[in-house]
Amino acid sequence: MLIFNTQNELVSHLTSISNEATSIGFVPTMGALHEGHLSLLKEALLHNPVVVISIFVNPTQFNNADDLAKYPRTLEADVAKIKTVSDTIVVYAPSVDDIYEGKTVSEHFDFDGLEHQMEGQFRPGHFDGVGTIVKRLFEIVKPTNAYFGEKDFQQLQIVKKMVAKLKLPVKVIGCPIFREPNGLAMSSRNERLTTEERAEAAIIFKTLSEAKIRFHVQSAEEVTEFVTEIFQKTTPFELEYFTIADEETLLPCTTKNNTKKYRAFIAVFVNNVRLIDTISLN
Ligand code: PAJ
Repeated sequence: MLIFNTQNELVSHLTSISNEATSIGFVPTMGALHEGHLSLLKEALLHNPVVVISIFVNPTQFNNADDLAKYPRTLEADVAKIKTVSDTIVVYAPSVDDIYEGKTVSEHFDFDGLEHQMEGQFRPGHFDGVGTIVKRLFEIVKPTNAYFGEKDFQQLQIVKKMVAKLKLPVKVIGCPIFREPNGLAMSSRNERLTTEERAEAAIIFKTLSEAKIRFHVQSAEEVTEFVTEIFQKTTPFELEYFTIADEETLLPCTTKNNTKKYRAFIAVFVNNVRLIDTISLN
């Protein structure tokens, strides 16, 4: 399997094996790979003769230095997992300098307000960091198709918005959330939970599923009250936000409109580990 640490090496390899007609599938990640990431790779392999995965813990999207420092870096294990999917996958694992060339700062983006909701409220600057790195990676890899998980639904919508606004020549494809057997959405952060916390974290998806059922007959406000009460009773879980929002605009649902698609979004702290999840409500 080919692993490149610099953009120059990656680009010269991709140029040597592909031409304008070759479709390149791209899966950007921050490593600490799990089945969720691998499901994106499998989807990419189905539709593209060349598949590239990037593994890069992007400093500009972390608004919390501790979170950045604690983010797992497990390249060797990641490569072994990628190999189990296919050893034809090209790995790009750059250094901070290779990407940012000495200037580790974000560009500022206008995502038509998508960036101000939910994660944007609680993680200031996060989506400028995501936009900066994804745009940079798209410039380097020049993918035909790029695969993102619905787990980070707001990120998926923001990347789609960036591509549309900047007219970038790439198709952004959203892929379903891969879950642990107890329903917990797979996440690199799950590794930081104790065995008990990981088992108890099933409450997150269980509550989202219940919220979905209730939303057929209750208002967004009533469902939000229900979820808030559940987490008030459930230690050590602390609800940061629960929002029912329009999938397109990500604006909170005030009155239900039958022509719109809604989605519930949740962020929960388990001690100091922050977990997010989402479910479609239609
Ligand atoms: P990371 O958290 O590593 O996630 C990489 C991709 O995997 C994202 O598109 C994410 O939505 C998807 N993913 C994570 N968990 C998933 C799951 N359980 N099921 C399906 N897909 C899942 O998201 C990032 O990295 C970064 O912000 C990045 C886009 C790489 C920019 O730095």
